[in-house]
Amino acid sequence: MDEGLRARGVSQRFGSRVVLDDVDLDVPPGRVIGLLGPNGAGKTTLMRILFGVLQPDAGTVEWKGRRATDDDRRSWGYMPQERGIYRDMRVHDQLTWIARLHGLDKAAGAAHATDLLERLGLADRAKDKVGDLSGGMAQRVQLAAAMVHEPDVLVLDEPFAGLDPVAVEFLSNVIVEHVRAGRLLLLSSHQLDLVENLCETITLVHHGRVVLRGDVRALKAASPDRYLRVDVTVEPEWLGRVDATIASSDASGSRLRLASSTDATAALDAVRAHATVTDFGVEAPSLSELFLRVAGESAEALHDAEATA
Ligand SMILES: Nc1ncnc2c1ncn2[C@@H]1O[C@H](COP(=O)(O)OP(=O)(O)OP(=O)(O)O)[C@@H](O)[C@H]1O
Ligand SMILES: [Mg+2]
Repeated sequence: MDEGLRARGVSQRFGSRVVLDDVDLDVPPGRVIGLLGPNGAGKTTLMRILFGVLQPDAGTVEWKGRRATDDDRRSWGYMPQERGIYRDMRVHDQLTWIARLHGLDKAAGAAHATDLLERLGLADRAKDKVGDLSGGMAQRVQLAAAMVHEPDVLVLDEPFAGLDPVAVEFLSNVIVEHVRAGRLLLLSSHQLDLVENLCETITLVHHGRVVLRGDVRALKAASPDRYLRVDVTVEPEWLGRVDATIASSDASGSRLRLASSTDATAALDAVRAHATVTDFGVEAPSLSELFLRVAGESAEALHDAEATA
């Protein structure tokens, strides 16, 4: 995989806290790659290491088969989690200025800025100061700032945080266009359900270690777990002798995790005895269900190790 970006054996500690422990990450071109994990998992730390903002205690960052240099990184774009754009500068002026910092001439920078603002639904705010925009709009400008120089590699740290559904859709389209052009894209998120249909390949970190990695569809297909989704809110006592557990439930319905020996129709019949089901399906686990499973197993392993220590 010489054409991509990769991290090998990256470890980082802050004081006595091990934040990354021997982490590998691959970002090949042409696919949406997700770096996922709960708050504090180490996602931002790894992105900062990719960008050379932080030197890791161990491990390397490679670009096109050799160690990445500061020069290589100039053609990359990074949208950090703590947003840093000038609030007093007008939107379009700021983007043009950033493009020039990356070496584009003024006309090309201005043209890219105009085009991006159009695509991000902000054309009518181009002359506003960033500080006068709403939080979600300012975030779209931040995204534009990360990609106004048409970077080969785009790294977005929690790009969906704080966006409304329309903006999420906008951003998803921009991301897909970027990778369709054969470029690299890495995004982080702790909202697994939000990104599970967007990311084609994921690396899921938990307590600084990779707990799940690979092609999302293959990971789901390989799981032996099956879930029954119903459009009624199931009460635990409805299940009676059916070997299933309520994995999640809200006003719109429930997801039941079926034991390997449980027939989905038996579970459905048990629910139907109490409520009218109009929509249901047997499904593979979602990403967050896969995560809860592996996180649960690693917690158990830790518990076992402590018990025998
Ligand atoms: N400069 C630092 N000094 C000390 N500890 C740090 C520093 N940077 C990060 N940490 C710690 O490293 C751990 C991982 O932080 P990081 O920001 O990488 O997590 P994250 O996966 O990005 O989380 P989130 O989803 O909340 O953004 C946290 O416990 C954090 O407190
Ligand atoms: Mg973070």
